[in-house]
Amino acid sequence: MIGCKILPSSKPPLPSPSHSNKNMTCKSPGHKTPSQTFIVLDKELVIGDFIPGNPHIEAMVGDVNIYMNDLDDPQMAEIEIMIAELKSRGKGLAQESVLMMMVFAVEKFGIHAFHAKIGESNKASLNLFHKMGFQKISYSEIFKEVTLELPITESTCEKLHQLIGNMVTNSWP
Ligand SMILES: CC(C)(COP(=O)(O)OP(=O)(O)OC[C@H]1O[C@@H](n2cnc3c(N)ncnc32)[C@H](O)[C@@H]1OP(=O)(O)O)[C@@H](O)C(=O)NCCC(=O)NCCS
Repeated sequence: MIGCKILPSSKPPLPSPSHSNKNMTCKSPGHKTPSQTFIVLDKELVIGDFIPGNPHIEAMVGDVNIYMNDLDDPQMAEIEIMIAELKSRGKGLAQESVLMMMVFAVEKFGIHAFHAKIGESNKASLNLFHKMGFQKISYSEIFKEVTLELPITESTCEKLHQLIGNMVTNSWP
């Protein structure tokens, strides 16, 4: 359903959409640089044939980022997802993208826990991460946001691989 392109960490994620609501933010104030970014493509928007390696700008609908900025624990990653294109929401793209990024991060960086910081009123996102097994570990009264965590145990890792089992991957330089 989706294709993802891995960008070097220096490239910025897609800008937030003009329609995005303040309540939908998942970011705490302050600057963070993504350690890894995937751009999410909606294959239904690809014009012509899907060609691995072709940027397919017409089909870029969002991004998923991880941040490995915890000095005490470099193998803990904060994850963020944005499906900016409204017509591409509700198709499972966020779930698939988060899964894909988590499997990639576990395999490539040995990540042993993911965190997601989500505004307390962002029901769509809370549902998304709860559905994927994340659980609340803390709440910030100041930012009105919860921190959810998914520890990567052997069984979580197995489940991630089962969920992503039918994913088709392409490699290109
Ligand atoms: C939250 C967001 C990423 C969901 O993207 P999406 O591609 O529409 O989500 P999916 O189709 O993969 O949905 C997966 C699950 O998320 C939950 N969900 C998604 N949209 C929802 C909505 N509008 N209301 C309630 N639950 C919702 C559901 O549990 C859904 O599973 P289901 O379809 O079996 O019910 C998208 O709405 C978005 O980009 N919002 C703005 C940015 C944001 O809040 N990012 C998250 C903070 S890190």
